[in-house]
Amino acid sequence: MAISNFKKKIAVFLSGRGSNLKNLYKFSKTKSSKFTIHLVISNKKDTKGILFSKSKKIKSYSIDKKMSEFERKSLFLISRENIDVICLAGFMRILSKTFVQKCKIPIINIHPSLLPKYKGLKTHARAIENKDVYSGCTVHHVTSKLDSGTIILQKKVKILKKDTATTLSKKVLKVEHQIYPIALNKIC
Ligand code: GAR
Repeated sequence: MAISNFKKKIAVFLSGRGSNLKNLYKFSKTKSSKFTIHLVISNKKDTKGILFSKSKKIKSYSIDKKMSEFERKSLFLISRENIDVICLAGFMRILSKTFVQKCKIPIINIHPSLLPKYKGLKTHARAIENKDVYSGCTVHHVTSKLDSGTIILQKKVKILKKDTATTLSKKVLKVEHQIYPIALNKIC
């Protein structure tokens, strides 16, 4: 069987800070990476993530419009740029069922909880409030149901008595940076 030498072209969707984007980009420059970051799309203007991608000369677009328009333009860009996989990285909007169906390539997401626990927002505060012993993060396939697709990789983080939502989110983010590139490589 012929083995392709071509790296998969990734599009990252984000809404803000972009630390996961930076981390995926850094990994993409290593020998073990099976992907390159080819396109970055933000649903907000002037996000740190977009500023970073511009500084690295990655094709970058801010589509600060209603969701239907965001999806229409993104689908066009995904197809024009021959993207292989979409990675949601701190993308705080829900993609419509139509978008997910029209998109014929895998879409994956990183979520700051041990799914299926704590879908949606405020995951850290909810885990602490419920006195959970562990939190963590999950990389999963995106379907039209919120935070519900097949899990690709998950890693636990111990919750200490002294943890607050802020300290826990920092600990979980470190682990997100460990597992997201591995999970993406796995599906490439
Ligand atoms: C990350 O913690 C990510 O898991 C979370 O937003 C943060 C983005 O950080 N995503 C979600 O909550 C999606 N439901 P980043 O912009 O620094 O990558």
